[in-house]
Amino acid sequence: MKTDCSSVKNIAGRVRFGGSTLEEKEISQAVISRLPRYFRYLGELKDEGVERISSQDLSELMRVTASQIRQDFNNFGGFGQQGYGYNVEYLYDEIGKILGLDRQHNFVIIGAGNLGRALGNYMNFERRGFIFRGMFDQNPDLVGQEVRGVKVMPMEELESFIRENEIDIAALTIPKTSALDVVERLVKTPIRAIWNFAHVDLNVPEGIQVENVHLSDSLMKLSYNINRYLKEQV
Ligand code: NAI
Repeated sequence: MKTDCSSVKNIAGRVRFGGSTLEEKEISQAVISRLPRYFRYLGELKDEGVERISSQDLSELMRVTASQIRQDFNNFGGFGQQGYGYNVEYLYDEIGKILGLDRQHNFVIIGAGNLGRALGNYMNFERRGFIFRGMFDQNPDLVGQEVRGVKVMPMEELESFIRENEIDIAALTIPKTSALDVVERLVKTPIRAIWNFAHVDLNVPEGIQVENVHLSDSLMKLSYNINRYLKEQV
């Protein structure tokens, strides 16, 4: 089964949330997709030493309506107290738990080319609990090279490395022509999720989550918005 939303089970377009302190409840995909942005903003506020924030101030900062914020948070029990606003650290931690960020995820990158190296070099994933453990490539010239202290390994070692290092996420930064063969190998390992940058849809067994990332989709949205704006100006 192909799924696009990680860490939560998709039930007919909705997800079931089972928090440790909150009752199990169905949450829409739209709400889930907004949580990382809340988490990012709250992380920045926390780093700046902000202890509490009203939904109005958060709404101005994030440019979403205060009622949207309240509605979203009500899915998880509210998080706020009337007249007090939101406790930034508490809210950050709770949203982190909902997103499954209160536990560490070990990941490997398959494909040590331009994109794979760019991802491997990005330090901030660690801050969110995503630990870059290994990198693989079929090109023997790349094997042994290092990306941020992590050695590129040959593909022959993929399965044993995943098993021995409790890897739960594999990022696929290889061409689509090779992706399906690699996925066939991955699904036989204890991997839990594939972060798929290859331009091909993957069919994986239930229990393996797939998140497709297509930067060009984002560019096309941008192009649409440029067009729309220009038309409005005429
Ligand atoms: P690249 O050519 O620099 O790197 C690809 C690497 O994959 C090479 O080192 C190659 O040896 C390795 N590789 C190929 N087949 C393999 C296999 N079966 N097993 C292990 N390693 C294998 O290409 P780049 O720029 O890093 O892009 C990688 C892929 O990601 C491309 O197919 C591209 O279309 C895609 N891409 C996707 C984006 C997105 O937003 N989804 C954005 C940019 C690239």
